[in-house]
Amino acid sequence: MIELNYRNVDETIIGSKNGLNIREEFDKYKDTITHIIADLNKRKDKPGQWLQWMNLGYNEETLWYVKEYAAMVQDRFENVLVLGIGGSALGGLAVTEALLKPYWNLLTTEQRNGLPRIFFLDNIDPDTISGLLEILDLKKTLVNVITKSGSTAETMSQFMIVKNILEQELGDDYRKNIVATTDKKTGVLRQIAEQEGYKTFVVPDDVGGRFSVFSAVGLLPFALVGIDIDEIVNGFKDMDLALKNTDINENIAAQNALIHYLMDTKKGKNLSVMMPYSSRLKYVSDWYVQLWAESLGKNKDKNGNDVEIGPTPIKALGATDQHSQIQLYNEGPNNKVITFVRVKEFDNNLEIPAIFEYTGIGYLGGKTVNQLINAEADATRVALADYQRPTVTIILPKINGYYVAQLLYLLEVQTAIAGELYNIDTFNQPGVEQAKNYTYALMGRVGYEESAQVLQSKLTTV
Ligand code: PA5
Repeated sequence: MIELNYRNVDETIIGSKNGLNIREEFDKYKDTITHIIADLNKRKDKPGQWLQWMNLGYNEETLWYVKEYAAMVQDRFENVLVLGIGGSALGGLAVTEALLKPYWNLLTTEQRNGLPRIFFLDNIDPDTISGLLEILDLKKTLVNVITKSGSTAETMSQFMIVKNILEQELGDDYRKNIVATTDKKTGVLRQIAEQEGYKTFVVPDDVGGRFSVFSAVGLLPFALVGIDIDEIVNGFKDMDLALKNTDINENIAAQNALIHYLMDTKKGKNLSVMMPYSSRLKYVSDWYVQLWAESLGKNKDKNGNDVEIGPTPIKALGATDQHSQIQLYNEGPNNKVITFVRVKEFDNNLEIPAIFEYTGIGYLGGKTVNQLINAEADATRVALADYQRPTVTIILPKINGYYVAQLLYLLEVQTAIAGELYNIDTFNQPGVEQAKNYTYALMGRVGYEESAQVLQSKLTTV
C-alpha cells in the first residue's frame, strides 16, 4: 500500500506557530471523522448524492465491455485521439503519462507492441488543433469523444471538426473511427451517437467529471493503449477497503484531509502544493488541481451561509521546480502545505558514470540518478522544515497501475472528506456555469439571447 508521512506538520518539528499538535487534533476530531467516513459510505449508493465514484472499481460490466472493445479495435488503429476537457481529460492524461513507457508516441510500432499512440486534445487553441490534425492520419485514428453533458462547447467543437474530416476521408465508414463516452440517456452527444450509430460507453449517473477516472472515461483510453485495467481496479479496491476504516489513526485520506483543513482554518495556510518527484506523475498534479479546486472552492456552505472558502491548489514538479518555486516556498509567505509524492523504486536504475574528478561534480560519479532525485526530495523536505514550513509525503513503492490507482483514489476520498470538514457541497461547480453561459451567449446559442444583451453592455465596461 502507499503510505503517508505527516511528521513535518507536527509542532515538534516545525514549531507551534506553524505546526499542529497532531496527536491532540486526531483525538479531537476522532468522532467527527468516524461520522464523516461512515456517512459517505452510507450515502454512496443513494441517487443524487454524487458518490457513485466510490463504486466505480466494482463495476465488472464496464470492465468487461471496455476490455472486449479494446481487444477488438486496438490493432486496427495507429492512434487514439481523446477529445475532452476538465474531468473528461485530466484523469486520462495523468494515468497514461504515468503508466505508458516515457515518450510513448515517439516509439516505433514494434516498440509499442503494435499498440496505438495516444493524444489528448483538451483545449481549443486553433493552432494546436490544426497542428495535431496535420500530423495525425485520421483514417488510422480512433477518436474517443468524452463529455458527460454531451454539449461542452470545447469538446463538441473539436468533435465537429474531426468528424467532418473523417466523413470526408472515409465516407459512411467513418463511424468505425468514433467511440463516444457520454451520459446514458441525456445530452446532444448521446442523441448524435444514437442517430449516427456510434459505439458508446457510459459516464455513470452521479459521477462528476473530476471523479470519473475509474469509469469508462479513463478505463477505455487506458485499455486501448494496453494498460492493464485489472491492475488499476485492484489498486482502487484495496485502497477503498483501507479507506473504509473509520478510525483516523488508520485512514490516510482522513489524516491528510484533516491536516489540510486545520492548516487552512487554524494556521492560515490555504495554498496546497502538489509536488511529485517523478516526471511520470507530472499530470497527477494537474488532475489534483482540478479535483481540489472545483470541489473545495465554494462561496456557500451546506446551510447556505456565505463562506468563500477553499485552499488554492498549485502544481509543482520535483526536482525541476526546486529551481523555480522553492525559494518562495522556503522564504516567502508561510501559507502553504506542500505534498511531496515520492517513488521508492523506479523502473530504471540509472548510474552516473564517474568520468570527471572535479571537486564540484566528482561526487556524482558512481551514484545513480535514482539516489539523486530522492536525496533532493529529502533535502528539500528537511530544508522546508528548517524554515518551519509544513509538508506531507505520500510514498509510492513503484509506479504501476496498482499504486497509481491507489494514489488517485486516495486523493478523491481525501477531497470528499475535506469537503465534509468544510461543510460544503464537494460535488457541484456552480462557479463554472456563469462563464459557460456567457460563452454560449457570445457564440449565439439559442435560449441565451437575454444573457447576450446583458453581456454586450458589460463587455464595454468590464
Ligand atoms: O469535473 C467536472 O465536472 C468538469 O471538469 C467537467 O468534467 C468538464 O467541465 C467537462 O464536462 P463534460 O464532461 O460535460 O464535457
